[in-house]
Amino acid sequence: MEGKGNKYRLNLMKFIGEHRQMMILSMSVMLITTGLSVITPWLMQYLVDKALPQKDVNLLVLCVAGIAIIPIINMLITALENVYKSDVQTRITVKLRFQLLDKLLKLSPTTLSKYQQGDITGRLVRTCDDISGFVTKLLNGFNNVITFVFIGIVMLTMNWKLSGIVLFFAPLMVYFYYRRIRFWRTTYKDISQAQKEYDVFITEVVPGLKTIQTFGQEQHEIANGQELNRKYRNLQNQLQKQRSFQGRLFWELQDSLSTSLVYAAGIYFIFHQQMTIGQLLAFTVYVPRFYGAINSLFVLYMDRDQLKPEIERYEEMMDFPDENVDESNAISMKEVKGQIEFEHVSFGYSDEREILQDVSFAIKPGEFIGIVGATGGGKSTIIDLLLRFGQPRTGQILLDGQPLNAYQLKDYRKQIGLVPQDIFLWNRTIRENLLYVNPSATEEELRKAADQAQMKQLIENLPEGWNTLIGDRGVRLSGGEKQRLAIARTLLRKPSILLLDEPTSALDAKTEFLLQACLEEVYQEKTIIVVAHRLATIRNADRILVVNQGRIEESGSHEELMEKKGYYYELAKQQYQVSTLVG
Ligand SMILES: Nc1ncnc2c1ncn2[C@@H]1O[C@H](COP(=O)(O)OP(=O)(O)O)[C@@H](O)[C@H]1O
Ligand SMILES: [Mg+2]
Repeated sequence: MEGKGNKYRLNLMKFIGEHRQMMILSMSVMLITTGLSVITPWLMQYLVDKALPQKDVNLLVLCVAGIAIIPIINMLITALENVYKSDVQTRITVKLRFQLLDKLLKLSPTTLSKYQQGDITGRLVRTCDDISGFVTKLLNGFNNVITFVFIGIVMLTMNWKLSGIVLFFAPLMVYFYYRRIRFWRTTYKDISQAQKEYDVFITEVVPGLKTIQTFGQEQHEIANGQELNRKYRNLQNQLQKQRSFQGRLFWELQDSLSTSLVYAAGIYFIFHQQMTIGQLLAFTVYVPRFYGAINSLFVLYMDRDQLKPEIERYEEMMDFPDENVDESNAISMKEVKGQIEFEHVSFGYSDEREILQDVSFAIKPGEFIGIVGATGGGKSTIIDLLLRFGQPRTGQILLDGQPLNAYQLKDYRKQIGLVPQDIFLWNRTIRENLLYVNPSATEEELRKAADQAQMKQLIENLPEGWNTLIGDRGVRLSGGEKQRLAIARTLLRKPSILLLDEPTSALDAKTEFLLQACLEEVYQEKTIIVVAHRLATIRNADRILVVNQGRIEESGSHEELMEKKGYYYELAKQQYQVSTLVG
């Protein structure tokens, strides 16, 4: 867990170190409680060896009082300490979670799209819990070290001969555990994997409830869940079996052997006046505790092994280089003219497959550009690159003559407004969803954006108007309503460049027409790029780029492209035929 190279290494000690005061307090308390608990058997020895033969009533009262009171004091101090320990643990959980969340926010959606959502959520929640849970165990481990040392010393001073016999077993025990533990590591990895699969399952099922019911797949999902559970349970059982039968059994065997040996040797020493009965009594209490401490340290070691896959999952995420960060010489963006150039850009989400190939085009400030083409051709990918959600593999993208990375990201994204293809809305009111992107917007600005997005009628018809809760991801709105809200949200930010990715796919013809007229008016002077499925949406564009299989196939105005009788012409013909069929 130490820092090595540039890789992120989770250093639990550092986290614990941040709560140094608390830890010092906790450890001091442990020293006291362990010390006190070591005293009890010692008092027992006094009782038997001194108070009993001398019939010393005072000593008897003193020893008995000690034996009675010490556990109570111990319990009170420990209870208090537990409260603090759990507080530190919770703080570390929160810290781990926020550190990871902070990292996730610095990664681009393109990078994260390689992971399943449930996997990421699992790392954010359970992995962090597991890791911080280990902190308490670590502290208990410290407790065991103290117990081991204290009892070792007391036993040696009390009777070194018997201590020698007791200590003889310790290396045997260490050897056995060390040999066994290595075999359990693969199980830990499998368990971690099974847990991840379950996280993924649950995170997909909940938002998928409607789909599951639509297709009548309830039983299928239940079976899926049970199967995953069974797999997890089997692995847990297997591990527990190993740990119980091999670990626990060995420990019991070793305990009974050593106890009987202590009795045998102890009584032998008593016969030869080399030991007192009181000492033997004390030893019978010390010995199991002594071995118990060693055993617990090994359990701790096993727990650490078990935690390792989780730590690796955490580190894996933290290890990604930050993506949403500015280069050191990034400039702030004052005014945007809106001239965009793609110069021989190629890009792929993975190394194996290139999505965009040698894409070049230039957009003049204030132009209205349409992008059309078959699905999967790379239209949304072009938009992603414009939003800096990915870096071109070769070539470059310029805005107003500067590469996109030259600008500070925060300024940049303020100037670029996107209405995405898959709209994400918060489960808040309409007003809150709008204010989210521009908290200082006035009532008038809100209304204006809503009017421009043709939402006026919609809001008036809603029972609670602006304060209507729209449900998770906007489930209480229709597709077209969601789209208009998303458009209003983007307009409220007043971006200099407007990107719309299939913005009208769920709108009826009339709304689409109104919206188009409005956008053309609002964005008369500004650059606007519209990816459209329906050619009618971008018919009036200054220029249309036709994207096919990651390349710009054609470009020109509607009339030019129609005359060319190429790919666009074919698309138009198809759509025309379909619409006459329907009409
Ligand atoms: N996050 C992603 N990871 C991997 N492949 C992706 C990702 N997003 C899109 N793709 C792939 O890139 C290609 C182009 O996608 P996209 O730009 O969304 O197409 P379009 O918007 O033209 O329909 C598709 O084949 C799609 O499968
Ligand atoms: Mg798309």
